[in-house]
Amino acid sequence: MLEKMENWRRSSYCGAVSPSDTGKAVTLTGWVQRRRDHGGLIFIDLRDREGMVQLVFNPDAPNKVHEKAHEIRSEFVLAVKGVVQKRPEGTENPNLKTGAVEVAVQELKVLNDSAPLPFMIEDDTDVAEMTRLKYRYLDLRRPSLQRKLILRHRVAMATRNYLSANGFLEIETPVLTKSTPEGARDYLVPSRLNPGQFYALPQSPQLFKQILMVSGLDRYFQIVKCFRDEDLRADRQPEFTQIDAEMSFVDREDVISVMEGLIAKIFKEAGVEVSLPFPRMSYAEATGRFGVDNPDVRFGLELKDLTKELSSSGFKVFSDAAAKKGVIKAISVKNGASFSRKDLDDLTEVAVSFGAKGLAWVKLTEEGWQSPIAKFLTEAEREMIVKALGAGKGDLILFAADRMSIANTVLGRLRLNIGKRLGLIPKEGYSFVWVTEFPMFDYDEAEKRYVAVHHPFTSPMDEDLDRIDSDPLSVRAKAYDLVLNGVEIGGGSIRIHRSDIQAKIFDRLGIARDEAQERFGFLLEALKYGTPPHGGIAFGLDRVMAIMTGSESIRDVIAFPKTQKATDIMSDAPSPVGQKQLDEIFIRVVKKAGT
Ligand code: AMO
Ligand code: AMP
Repeated sequence: MLEKMENWRRSSYCGAVSPSDTGKAVTLTGWVQRRRDHGGLIFIDLRDREGMVQLVFNPDAPNKVHEKAHEIRSEFVLAVKGVVQKRPEGTENPNLKTGAVEVAVQELKVLNDSAPLPFMIEDDTDVAEMTRLKYRYLDLRRPSLQRKLILRHRVAMATRNYLSANGFLEIETPVLTKSTPEGARDYLVPSRLNPGQFYALPQSPQLFKQILMVSGLDRYFQIVKCFRDEDLRADRQPEFTQIDAEMSFVDREDVISVMEGLIAKIFKEAGVEVSLPFPRMSYAEATGRFGVDNPDVRFGLELKDLTKELSSSGFKVFSDAAAKKGVIKAISVKNGASFSRKDLDDLTEVAVSFGAKGLAWVKLTEEGWQSPIAKFLTEAEREMIVKALGAGKGDLILFAADRMSIANTVLGRLRLNIGKRLGLIPKEGYSFVWVTEFPMFDYDEAEKRYVAVHHPFTSPMDEDLDRIDSDPLSVRAKAYDLVLNGVEIGGGSIRIHRSDIQAKIFDRLGIARDEAQERFGFLLEALKYGTPPHGGIAFGLDRVMAIMTGSESIRDVIAFPKTQKATDIMSDAPSPVGQKQLDEIFIRVVKKAGT
């Protein structure tokens, strides 16, 4: 028989019942966490979004509730009416928000039963992630995941409130669009009405937000899905969410100061006070000291440059690197002399995977230098190295001698690897740093041409404009990234608003006029009609939430994430489609070789 829900309208969430409700009648709805029979009394923990409360079924209770309670299993859906009472002394549960009280049930309605579960709904779970993702609706019943989604909602609301109060308008941009310039592979959508033609899903709203500035909307933001067909990692999803913003008549300092305010507001939602302004570091300093452009500044183990001191060393690996305009850099690992042969082999493997030709090492033991390269170095060189690195007995020194970018990357990666291995990275706390003055161009060895480090609409720094032709790799961009605990959580730039400079950049990038026209023609055309100076930024909301909630992966802060193979195993996407659908969009599927 269908019971009218209006007779059973909830008076409060289970998790909101409190000692001040003692003696009051309540109506609660929720899911059964577990049932325990204690001789006469039956206890059921009833759970909803806001928490859990203990129901108690007394054998003398009216409406046969005790008898009915026997039939109840995990995850049945109940509505109950009862009275809040203090738990008897000694039976309080301090681990539960409602642990001082319980609800003596007087009426019970079983609204639904549940099939036996593939896994228990518990925060402490060792169920394989694949199983959890297949039954994501059950996984999402776990309180820890619900708390993350609730916090994510609050962060989104705080973002909207803050940006709106600062004059930003939330404006939607299209999802069926043209390829954007972020540099990953596009997801394509065939057009039925235009056979053989494709939309690209946006990698970001970059071009549209710039056009909104041309249109005079002045300040734009959007919490927006972006799509990139990349190889996936723990902090990368094929579709992810940006807090995307753009401002007119601004320079870098304006963008940075408004956005620092936003980050402070967002973290307040998690009860965290961040102190402003955030520290800054140029790209050159970040890569020089930490090896990477997303420095984790929570621990030391910094890189030291010994090129000058070792350039004429008897060790050929060093002198050759210096002769080829490369660098000789090193890190010193406190107490690292205890690393085993296997540890060193592992580290060498890491180094080689990032492009090193080898990994020279020194153990500073009681007996002195233990190292395959000791014999190549003079006494004076050895003393200099130890002194320059501030190393002492028991420490381990690792060297990279190579092109600057490789030496930095290799030692930067080893630094992180060793930091984790030795537990040097603090678990608590938030370390922000702006990385600025990125290089404008990088040289792509494979394609033999210059590529934009950020994107081709990023403005070069004014003082570097005259080197675009003569020394492109030294040109810095008005680009900035915000890094949190070693993760890039946002990036943006001041854009080019003059078409002569834009043309120059395209020339340098080897993007021919007609190619530029074809790819970004609508933006280039728009930029001709009175474009204000403008700039902006986009934050990766998933990454922010993952760090804020201490999650290992951004999948934990996304309701329906994709697996490493970009599949959704709950809904079974992607999946084959029928011939009729393919015919309608003029697509013929070609079998991959070997399948
Ligand atoms: P960018 O490409 O740096 O800039 O992206 C901005 C931020 O988005 C996050 N992010 C991702 N998060 C999860 N999964 C991914 N696959 C992924 N890719 C990027 C990162 C990154 O810092 N249009 C420019 C912004 C601008 O110039 O205003 C842009 O998209 O946290
Ligand atoms: P070799 O003389 O080539 O046997 O190298 C001596 C030591 O230097 C070995 O431990 C190598 O791993 C290391 N090595 C070789 N090339 C480099 C390099 N480019 N940077 C740092 N160490 C290197």
